[in-house]
Amino acid sequence: MNNRPILFIDSGIGGLPYCRDFMQKNPQEEVCYLADRQNFPYGPRDKDELVSIILSLTEKMIKTTDPKIIVLACNTAAVSALTPLRERFPGIPFVGTVPAIKPAASATKTGKIGVLGSARTIEDPYSQNLAEDCENSDGAQNELIGVAAPDMVEFVEKHYDTAEKKEKSNIVKKYIDIFRSKNADTIVLACTHFLYLTDEFKEESAPDIKVLDSLEGVTKRIEFLLDENDGELRAEIDFEPVPWLFLTGEEPADLSWHNRSSEMGFALCLLDTI
Ligand code: DGL
Repeated sequence: MNNRPILFIDSGIGGLPYCRDFMQKNPQEEVCYLADRQNFPYGPRDKDELVSIILSLTEKMIKTTDPKIIVLACNTAAVSALTPLRERFPGIPFVGTVPAIKPAASATKTGKIGVLGSARTIEDPYSQNLAEDCENSDGAQNELIGVAAPDMVEFVEKHYDTAEKKEKSNIVKKYIDIFRSKNADTIVLACTHFLYLTDEFKEESAPDIKVLDSLEGVTKRIEFLLDENDGELRAEIDFEPVPWLFLTGEEPADLSWHNRSSEMGFALCLLDTI
């Protein structure tokens, strides 16, 4: 049994739906969440710069929280830094949120799959290589259509809480229209921020386009690691966890962070003040 926490990392609020899904299904597990609001957004950054930011933040968070598993709840961080992180910290299992291409490859009928993410995610060789893995059930090659949506990342991080339904639908529709015009019938949400707009994606994509994300797969992967070796990484069944939300950047933390953290039962902490 192991009561150490599971650490989730994202540039902002994007990883919270992943964290929430995991917490709901595994209430005895302690969770820490790091929102790197100081370096938000990750998407426009150069790969080397981003890798170095994530390595040093992860090191700091390992010293602060001693996690048993680390989840990169951010596609941009995962496609850029998963390999260097595994090399630098070989004793800790990492889970990455990477574009859910395989289920999309089996679902598509037109053979055209839209991938919507940050610029960094779309341009990274990791995503490009996924295309090679992208055969449909008949063995034919599917085509990946990658589109970067930096405005949608900003919208969710900065305006989601106060935006009208119409604004949410409009920004989603803009991207659905691009994919529809290219005859894609399956879209992969390859940025964790976009899961806040899941309802709008479902409404705007119906009836001809299916929208997929990696939420369930990530929770299942963490649970798999916890259950390995007779559940040696599982917390004790009666353990009462205290979840923490860490923020980078200066005081004051925006009111929305306080609201989110209390709504999810987190204790809020500025990383730099530790
Ligand atoms: N949540 C991040 C992702 O999944 C957001 C990207 C960003 O910070 O630009 O890629």
